Amino acid sequence: MATDQAIGIDIGGTGIKGAVIDLATGELVTHRFKVGTPEGGKPADILRATEGLLTTIDERVGGAKLPLGICFPAVVKQGRTLSAANVSKEWIGLPAEELFEETLGREIHFINDADAAGHAELRYGAAAGVDGLVILTTLGTGIGSALIYDGVLVPNSELGHLEIDGHDAESRAAYSAMERESMSWEKWAKRLQTYYSHVEFIFSPDLFIVGGGVSKHHEQFLPLLKLATPIVPAVHRNNAGILGAAALALH
Ligand code: BGC
Repeated sequence: MATDQAIGIDIGGTGIKGAVIDLATGELVTHRFKVGTPEGGKPADILRATEGLLTTIDERVGGAKLPLGICFPAVVKQGRTLSAANVSKEWIGLPAEELFEETLGREIHFINDADAAGHAELRYGAAAGVDGLVILTTLGTGIGSALIYDGVLVPNSELGHLEIDGHDAESRAAYSAMERESMSWEKWAKRLQTYYSHVEFIFSPDLFIVGGGVSKHHEQFLPLLKLATPIVPAVHRNNAGILGAAALALH
């Protein structure tokens, strides 16, 4: 097995996805495997589900223990998960990196999910070679963010939790809010307009990148937004987290 391959696993509030990545090209070299995030998102359950997913992926590469990167929907500092918005609050303060390493029996690189997506877009996608401030947001169960200035990622930005009109922004504008409230694209775009206008005012970015599963339908909502800042879909759509986590595993 070539050494420029690594496994990326993206743990989300709804699903846990993983694949083997070719780090030279940023392409997936296996199918993208997925299991549901266990109800309640408790540590022991997520660890077990991740172990099951990794076993499946390992089998696909003949048991070779490729470098492994895992990204997670929380603030991550020194391997600890310091927040938990869409997983169990039991994660707060846990040495999560160590727990994954013990459960999986190998070293991992561990990072916030949106930061992993930002890293992927920086290395292989829409943020590559862009000067100034790029803000990547992922629209999924929550809203994740990655701040990149002149090619350097500032970790743990958490712009999904800005308070706008008295609400936690992601509770109104994440893709899960659209689904929960059965919104039309137009209605959801109004929520996104409020959100992105606010972020634009605070940061004056040079580029917005939109990731998350719904970014494959970008033509349904991005053209409805009126912003001074260009806004584009993530080149790697919902695979950006997997890709970024895998790429960082070899660093
Ligand atoms: C979490 C972030 C995460 C985002 C996307 C938010 O609720 O606080 O850490 O990046 O969801 O999963």
